Amino acid sequence: MSELTDMYAQIRVCTKCDLSQSRTNAVPGEGPEHAEIMFIGEAPGFHEDRQGRPFVGAAGQFLDDLLNMIGMDRGRVYITNVVKCRPPQNREPRPDEIEACRPYLDRQIELIQPKVIITISRFAMARWFPNKKISDIHGKPKRFDNLVVLPMYHPAAALHQPGLKAVLEADFKRVPQILKEMAQLPSAEDGEAKPKPPTEQLSMF
Ligand code: URA
Ligand code: SF4
Repeated sequence: MSELTDMYAQIRVCTKCDLSQSRTNAVPGEGPEHAEIMFIGEAPGFHEDRQGRPFVGAAGQFLDDLLNMIGMDRGRVYITNVVKCRPPQNREPRPDEIEACRPYLDRQIELIQPKVIITISRFAMARWFPNKKISDIHGKPKRFDNLVVLPMYHPAAALHQPGLKAVLEADFKRVPQILKEMAQLPSAEDGEAKPKPPTEQLSMF
């Protein structure tokens, strides 16, 4: 058992916040332990709560389509949420619930060490971009040492507002290029040892 799967077992019996009382199944997250891309959504919904898996409803189907569009699939990315248990009637998670659940997400990020985190919820975005608006910063990657965080609209929002579908598709299409550019960046550990490439090559950052 890895530390990650050990944590899944803890999450499935966690009672650190009130959401534990209304859930059917906790939804820890899923994907390869060293995925390059990690998606962070808001919270499990009805189907996720039933199945114990993230993004398995309509929004999940659209996420699969978006991944396929860029030649990826769910088997190659890690998918989780800011809170691991479904809020009643799909209400927004409360700050105290997000705080109670934060150590799980923190550790997931530490263990998986993704190259790119794609935030697909307001609450995930707020972690790296406090007080920013998704309409201003969607699709714009920002570098934090060895990590790039890329805020995107939630796939469910695009299902409700058809105009957002094309926006989300356009933002997704940038992901392969971002990964390519990251592969060329000197890593933070290399410090000053390697000359930094001229900034004009780094169109994304
Ligand atoms: N919406 C989310 O934010 N997360 C899920 O897992 C499903 C729908
Ligand atoms: Fe525990 Fe997170 Fe579920 Fe709350 S939402 S009970 S903190 S796993």
